[in-house]
Order: sequence, then structure tokens, then C-alpha cells
Amino acid sequence: MKIKDIETKTNIFLAPMAGVTDLPFRRLCSRLGAGLCFTEMISVKALLHNSAKTREMLAKYDGEYPVAVQLFGHEPMDFYKVISSGVLDSFDMIDINMGCPAPKIVKNGDGSSLLKDLDTACNIICACVKATDKPVSVKFRKGFYLHDDISVRFAKMCQRAGASMITYHPRTREQGFSGKIDVEDIRRVKEAVSIPVVGNGDVVDRESYERMSKVCDAVMIGRRAVGHPEIFSLLTGKDVDMTKKEIARLHLDYLKEYTKSERYIVGTFKRHAFSYVDSVEDRRRIAMASSIEEIENILFS
Ligand SMILES: Cc1cc2nc3c(=O)[nH]c(=O)nc-3n(C[C@H](O)[C@H](O)[C@H](O)COP(=O)(O)O)c2cc1C
Repeated sequence: MKIKDIETKTNIFLAPMAGVTDLPFRRLCSRLGAGLCFTEMISVKALLHNSAKTREMLAKYDGEYPVAVQLFGHEPMDFYKVISSGVLDSFDMIDINMGCPAPKIVKNGDGSSLLKDLDTACNIICACVKATDKPVSVKFRKGFYLHDDISVRFAKMCQRAGASMITYHPRTREQGFSGKIDVEDIRRVKEAVSIPVVGNGDVVDRESYERMSKVCDAVMIGRRAVGHPEIFSLLTGKDVDMTKKEIARLHLDYLKEYTKSERYIVGTFKRHAFSYVDSVEDRRRIAMASSIEEIENILFS
């Protein structure tokens, strides 16, 4: 798929996920067939204040392409300043988070809170578009309150403001992850705009993928990729001759290559490792593990 000058490798994308889509995991998913990867959401305010911890989240590996950095915030000028500063220049795309339902994000007016304030949302997109020639995309939900549906209006606003792509998750903020998504909601958004539309929500296997891919240009996968990154090779048909254990090994090796803190590696890897093992007993042991060595003994010995 083409997004401005960016050519994605496949039309199945890895969703931005805080605490999950760090550099090692993006590398793994890209190798397994993810056509475009997104960073975890990154605060524009923290970047403006030069937070060292936040800067670390901007790490990329050599040759990583294409990759979108996802930003959150609520002040258009913050986005403009961060993008103009050049700190994001190594990324291929800028994605704006307008869907995060987490209370601590919403209370600051960020994430899905912007679904209630289309003027500010529009000004943020315009500020990003003004600050860069790279594609700017927006990820959003159906609305804020339980029965809202502002999706078509919101999608049209994104397009008018200059977004090159939108990702739509057809649940409201109040729904969180409850209920089932309806791909017809995505079809309506797709029919309302001419920019590429990425569908997102509940894709876990070939059947759910095919249902969604019929109504939009690309499909984004989040939760299913955690512990199951082979979903990308399964759906893209990319011939990856790796067992589950070899995938787990590679993931841990990438973490060790790019991350210095053992605490981070153990904490992060555990989120995935429960699905890398089969038995309840091994899952219990992984939950208790406090070192890389312990994890390696459980998984690979
Ligand atoms: C642990 C976790 C962290 C997430 N972090 C982000 C994030 O940083 N930015 C974002 O736009 N969405 C975030 N999401 C939402 C996902 O990107 C995606 O929209 C959602 O999980 C629905 O897709 P799925 O059904 O394939 O998981 C997160 C979801 C999970 C489960």
C-alpha cells in the first residue's frame, strides 16, 4: 500500500501498543511480515521537555522501514514544535493518537478526549501537516460516549485537515474493549473518504482478517500479536520457517541486543512469553521469574 511516498511491505500493520511495540518487538513483527509498524504512543510534552526516558522510546534499528512514530498530546503548537525540531526525522510517518481511552490520558485532554473536540483535533492535524512533508496519519475510535458515532464526520475532518491515512477502531471510548466490532462501521468510513483507511479491532485469525480486509485498505493488529507475532506470517503468507520456540528465542535476542536493563527485558518479555509456552506450569514459572537466565531455562532448556 502507498501512503504518500511510503510503500508498506504488506497491508497488515502492527498496532501501536504502549509497553509492547518497542524496537525489539517491532523488529520481530517486521521480520514476520508486518508491513508497517508503529511505536508506542509518545508524549509530545515529554519530548518538548527533553525527557531522557521518552527520548529512549525513539530508538530505531538500522534499516527499520517503514515505521511510524505515534504521538499524543492536545496542544497543536506542541506537535508543531516537536516535529519541526527534527527529533523525529528518522521516522517515516507521524501518527496521532486520538483514541486512547486510558483515564490518565483522557483527563489531560489527550487521546480519545479529542473525539469530543473536533476543532482541536483538526488544529493538531493541521499543525503536524504544516511541520512536515512526511505522511501524517490519525488513529481514532467511534466516539467518546457509549452510543456516540462521530466516525464519518471525524474521518472527513481528518482528510480535510491533510491526513494521508486514518486508522479506525469502531468502538467508543466508553466501550473500552467490550462488545464486538462491526466491520460495516469501517466500510462506512472507507466510503466517506478517499485517503487510505486502516481497519482495526479484534483481528485474531484468517477469518476475522478476511472479513475486515474486504472493507478497507489495510488491517492493523494489536492484541493478537502479543505472544503470537507469527500472525503476520500466517496472514501475509510470508514463508517464515520458524517454530514458536525459535520465534521466542529471536524475540529475547533482540531484547538483549537493544536493551541494557535486565529488569526491562524480564518485565517486557513476560507479557509475550505466556503465549510462547504451552503448559500452565511453565506459565506459572515465567510469572515468578526474575532474571533472563530463569526465563531462558524455562523456555529453551
Ligand atoms: C497493551 C495495549 C497498549 C496499547 N497502546 C496503544 C497506544 O500506545 N496507542 C494506540 O493508539 N493504541 C494503543 N492500544 C490500542 C491498540 O492499538 C488497538 O487499537 C486495540 O488493541 C484494538 O486492536 P486489537 O483488537 O487488534 O487489539 C493499546 C492496546 C493494548 C492492548
